[in-house]
Amino acid sequence: MAEPILTVEGLAAGYGDVRVLWDINLTVAAGEITCIVGSNGAGKTTLLRTLSGLVPASSGRIAFQGEDTTALTADQILARGIAHVPEGRRLFRGLSVHDNLLLGAYLRKGAAEVQRDLDYVFSLFPILRERRKQDATTLSGGEQQMCAIGRGIMSRPKLLMIDELSLGLAPRLVERLSEALIEINRNGLTILLVEQDVMTAFEIARHALIIETGRVSVTGTTAALADNPAIRQAYLGM
Ligand SMILES: Nc1ncnc2c1ncn2[C@@H]1O[C@H](COP(=O)(O)OP(=O)(O)OP(=O)(O)O)[C@@H](O)[C@H]1O
Ligand SMILES: [Mg+2]
Repeated sequence: MAEPILTVEGLAAGYGDVRVLWDINLTVAAGEITCIVGSNGAGKTTLLRTLSGLVPASSGRIAFQGEDTTALTADQILARGIAHVPEGRRLFRGLSVHDNLLLGAYLRKGAAEVQRDLDYVFSLFPILRERRKQDATTLSGGEQQMCAIGRGIMSRPKLLMIDELSLGLAPRLVERLSEALIEINRNGLTILLVEQDVMTAFEIARHALIIETGRVSVTGTTAALADNPAIRQAYLGM
């Protein structure tokens, strides 16, 4: 496995007195796509939110590129290079596609570089260029997901985390977004993908983690997991 860009050791987190994550250990390989799968309520979103600094860790350690980020704020973590495309996309109503994309770059200086990245996002998703003046929340579901991913890219991250790529989207659009993620990864960005559609996740990612009730139960390459009869039956329905 390539060098880890992210290492998590003994991580626990939750909401108030309710613990959701227990003793999470994982690594994300630099330059690769890793997916996290698991049933509803397993804690996938909570894990991404903890990695982003939106939910505090109650114990354990998160290290990004060798730096302990466990106690950093969400802005500090974003500045270190972790972007989070949230579940439900969360675009800002009343703001255009263009302005939603630029919000992703709010911590950055250097207008020329920001413009270059905007052009990159438009080259990945040409429909966003056509729709750049439209209120982002009036886009179709697939276009909103493109805009949310684009907003993540606009922070110029080293790790892009996406919570539920395919949720509510037609297969053709999921295919389109999957191809875009593969291209983004080929251009050098490490991706951590949370995905309820295990088949889609395994097609995109090289490594997988399965989370069950707040614990990592299985890790491996997607190729190995897809060959495992118990996992095929439980997660791939075959
Ligand atoms: N803000 C919150 N306050 C209290 N409990 C929460 C909060 N958000 C999530 N939870 C609880 O934490 C647990 C894990 O939720 P989480 O959203 O992380 O799961 P998930 O794996 O992302 O599920 P899904 O596949 O449905 O998106 C659930 O029991 C949920 O009810
Ligand atoms: Mg979730």
